[in-house]
Amino acid sequence: MNISRAILKFAGIGLVSLCFFSSPVTAADDDQFKHAAHLYDTYCTQCHGVNRDGNGLNSAFISVQPRDHSDPKGMGDIPNDEIIEVIKKGGLAANKSVLMPAWGGIFSDEEVEQLAAYLRHVCQCGSN
Ligand code: HEC
Repeated sequence: MNISRAILKFAGIGLVSLCFFSSPVTAADDDQFKHAAHLYDTYCTQCHGVNRDGNGLNSAFISVQPRDHSDPKGMGDIPNDEIIEVIKKGGLAANKSVLMPAWGGIFSDEEVEQLAAYLRHVCQCGSN
């Protein structure tokens, strides 16, 4: 066996064991939030950004900056009830900006709850 074949074989074993060990965790994780992440990608990223950091395409053009959903401090301070209320009824429902739209007519209650849980996952900040 020449050296490059040995490297290939070694890399192959590494790859297989990587998949074997890492996929169950990430797959379960992805499955749990798959639908919410898809909704977020479709409806939220234009303001909140593909990186969930508040830097969406629209953020340069609106007077109030969208919340950085990846910020554990800022998101950790918002109670779950408020997150759910704001997603359903828009920013005004929590005395926040009207620039945060209401989504209650578009998503089911279950989807709003999934989105709220997903936001907790994104910010890595516990529920309260
Ligand atoms: C048109 C732009 C826009 C879109 C689209 C948008 N948001 Fe927002 N969002 C905002 C702005 C602006 C704020 C900040 C409001 C403030 O601080 O007054 C905000 C704030 C929030 C907050 C924090 C509320 C709080 O109490 O501080 C949450 C949660 C949120 N958005 C969730 C979402 C979700 C989920 C979606 C997609 C379903 C979404 N947003 C789509 C503009 C948007």
